[in-house]
Amino acid sequence: MNTLAESAIANRTTAGKTAGYQSGFGNEFATEALPGALPANQNSPQQVAYGLYAEQVSGTAFTAPRSHNRRSWLYRIRPAAMHEPFERIDNGLIAGGFDEVDAPPNQLRWDPQAMPGAPTDFVAGLMTMAGNGSPDAQSGCAIHLYAANRSMTDCFFYSADGELLIVPQTGRLQLLTEMGTIDIEPQEIAVIPRGVRFQVRLPDGQAQGYVCENFGALLRLPDLGPLGSNGLANPRDFLTPHAWYEDREGDFRLIAKFGGKLWQARIGHSPLDVVAWHGNYAPYKYDLRRFNTIGSISYDHPDPSIFLVLQAQSDTPGVDMLDFVIFPPRWLAAEHTFRPPWFHRNVASEFMGLIHGEYDAKAEGFLPGGASLHNCMTGHGPDSATFEKASRSDTTKPDKVADTMAFMIETRNIIKPTRHALASPTLQKDYYRCWMDIRKHFNPQHRPEQT
Ligand SMILES: [Fe+2]
Repeated sequence: MNTLAESAIANRTTAGKTAGYQSGFGNEFATEALPGALPANQNSPQQVAYGLYAEQVSGTAFTAPRSHNRRSWLYRIRPAAMHEPFERIDNGLIAGGFDEVDAPPNQLRWDPQAMPGAPTDFVAGLMTMAGNGSPDAQSGCAIHLYAANRSMTDCFFYSADGELLIVPQTGRLQLLTEMGTIDIEPQEIAVIPRGVRFQVRLPDGQAQGYVCENFGALLRLPDLGPLGSNGLANPRDFLTPHAWYEDREGDFRLIAKFGGKLWQARIGHSPLDVVAWHGNYAPYKYDLRRFNTIGSISYDHPDPSIFLVLQAQSDTPGVDMLDFVIFPPRWLAAEHTFRPPWFHRNVASEFMGLIHGEYDAKAEGFLPGGASLHNCMTGHGPDSATFEKASRSDTTKPDKVADTMAFMIETRNIIKPTRHALASPTLQKDYYRCWMDIRKHFNPQHRPEQT
């Protein structure tokens, strides 16, 4: 990396969490690292300032409705086409499809994975836990864990299969992308659009977390209905980087995830060479602690859709392909109400992770860095200890669910675990037992008092 680039990143890191970013979700951004690099009145002038190449990257069909249309124009030192041919490389633990094994209708839960013993970067440290659909069909998602202890320096990565929703659990990440740099820490998320090339640096030396690779329609903010014009994740809290580039030559590798498989090409320069860009197809970050949580202030609690951060819509109105939901710290105030999540079975399938603290439906066993999977119509809910405690608690006073941050990836299709996930020693063989000691309280002689 050249000195200019290093100092630019250092400035960004010391400038604070929100400094150096452009604010807003899916805005039409315009940014340049050198003055006058952006063409003033057109996208593709005969000659671009500073000898740059103009290149469009489109994230939706050219003819997508304007409200959904996403594309950006990049002004770069060399076009993205300039690299040696790709060749297949080993996928490691990244699954190319989701029909390796039969998906069981059991409740599944995993302990956190161990940090690898050998030096491992973000891409080598990806391990697919589950997923559905396929990149070919541009439908469904893959859910990966990552565990890395080495920064990417001379290799670059992109996924042609889907946008990457990155959820750190331990360790900060510095994401150097074609369109600027993003710093995130646990309880923040970042989204790297399909096709955008990037590197992952590890400021803390190691990092672990989750990645949801969305094969379908781009993630968007949900409509708010009767909530009004504010609430849940507010658009202003989504941050997109300013243009940043490096002019670096060397014997580098470009790794692509394409059709579920990993491919590698030699590239003689850093592809992070975009000096200026404009458009609405760009990476972004969001601090989950900014979520404006909405809940009941009378009785019962709403469906978990009230915690929806981002959604990928399907072709069926109201039925999302993918929802990203969080369970953040919040007050519980509903009277004469069982306050933790109720027992339930859903047509949707639910993969959960815990970023921080404790999840309020499970007093133990669901650990930060762990995961759980409750598939279509699989019964689940609070464990017996949580039920007994919460069904006797004083609901005339509010409770604070503090020191927690869990998330859920909910999909319309069955989430199929990979062979590796089902064979992993982290799979808790006795998870089902947390419901097996639920007491029978039924007494037909015990008539409720008439009110
Ligand atoms: Fe659930």
